[in-house]
Amino acid sequence: MLARILKGSRTLSSASLFLRPHIHRPYTAAQLVTSASKMTNSNTVNIPCAERVAHFEQDVWSIFTPLAVECQAVNLGQGFMNFPPPDFVLEAAREALLRNDCNQYSHPKGRPRLRNALAKSYSPLFNRELDPEHEVVVTAGANEGIFSIFAGYLDKGSEVILMEPFFDQYIANITMNGGVPVYCPIRPQGDSTKEMSASQWKVDIKELESKITPRSKIIVLNTPHNPIGKVFSREELEEIGALATKHNLLIISDEVYDRLYFNPENHERIATLDGLWERTITVGSGGKTFGTTGWRIGWLVGPKKLLEPALGAHTRIVFCVNSPLQEAIAIGFEKAEEQKFFGSQVSAYEHKREKLLSVFRELGLPATVPDGSYFILVNTDKIQVPQDYVFPDLLYKRPRDFRTCYWLAKEIGVVAIPPSEFYSKENQNLAEKFARFAFCKTDETLDAAAERLLKLKAYIK
Ligand SMILES: Cc1ncc(COP(=O)(O)O)c(C=O)c1O
Repeated sequence: MLARILKGSRTLSSASLFLRPHIHRPYTAAQLVTSASKMTNSNTVNIPCAERVAHFEQDVWSIFTPLAVECQAVNLGQGFMNFPPPDFVLEAAREALLRNDCNQYSHPKGRPRLRNALAKSYSPLFNRELDPEHEVVVTAGANEGIFSIFAGYLDKGSEVILMEPFFDQYIANITMNGGVPVYCPIRPQGDSTKEMSASQWKVDIKELESKITPRSKIIVLNTPHNPIGKVFSREELEEIGALATKHNLLIISDEVYDRLYFNPENHERIATLDGLWERTITVGSGGKTFGTTGWRIGWLVGPKKLLEPALGAHTRIVFCVNSPLQEAIAIGFEKAEEQKFFGSQVSAYEHKREKLLSVFRELGLPATVPDGSYFILVNTDKIQVPQDYVFPDLLYKRPRDFRTCYWLAKEIGVVAIPPSEFYSKENQNLAEKFARFAFCKTDETLDAAAERLLKLKAYIK
């Protein structure tokens, strides 16, 4: 498969999609695997890679991030902020770097100061007094936390139920640990040719139950949801929780956007529902919470017994998480309240959401209005990409949204992400008419994107 990817990459050379510009930009693990394999192939040594990475396909980020640079496009693709973290968090990081104790190993569970700060901040949100010694584990970003849970629970052939679209890293995290992802779509209910609320995307609970087999071990929930922006209602959480209880599944509740939702009444945590604390590990992210996605600080919250296997794996994967930035995130939590940080962050994101939505409204392109997270899914069906437009070969093998997003980047100058990347092969058709735009960007960037997007008027039927 890697050979296929490499062959595919050569066919794209005219589009120079694989030029690596000498500027800093985020990488994903799959990109690094691809680069490493290229290095091996460019000399005479040929050491085959492990099965567990051999099936990785070229990921969406390694196509669209270089494309953004190549076309000097406004990048609303990857979900990283192009504005700095809050001053009080940056200041804490600077000070921590100057303290010797912050430059040495931390406890694998996480620095006590951060575990205490997390327990204090989260106890009221979980309606229980969290024990910082046993009910919180600090991880290298939410992603490593999730990987550690899979490493701690999956055996070869264990099945993990995912609702799609899903955060793309889940798949490699599952398969690298011997697990098998099983998919159930969240479908838009109603007329997706008109603006929709994210709450109109629903999972059919009977269909979800039909995916459960005796090999099912874990169900993954993501709320607020990337990329739909859906915040699952209490009723939906109760139904999912009831299934997990009936079939004895572990629930991973990926709540990395738990400080980014726009209607304070409707965000609920599945771990707070009757009887579900005992079977739920909730995942959080310092990157999303304080705009520090490159710091790689995340956390797991759950009962001691459930966290132990994940902690065991985490200790062997990273041993501990980088110390100075744990300290900075701890101070971030300690000061967030007096700084009224979370409220003002939500207001800032709400303003950004409205700014970007207003462009799609003006264009008459139906969007899904997110209730949380910082993504907008837009129905691009009305955009008429010229029929004779020539795309790089590789894109003809991908679903239509890849070509629409490529054209958007090249001709309109704005990068969005094709959401079929977040679906299993059999359900990618559900995503073909959508594009995902991230609004975790400065107002200047959003204004520049708006100006370019308005050029779409000439292409809308
Ligand atoms: C749904 C979801 N889960 C997990 C993560 C990973 O978070 P982190 O950057 O803390 O590893 C992301 C990042 O985009 C995400 O969107």
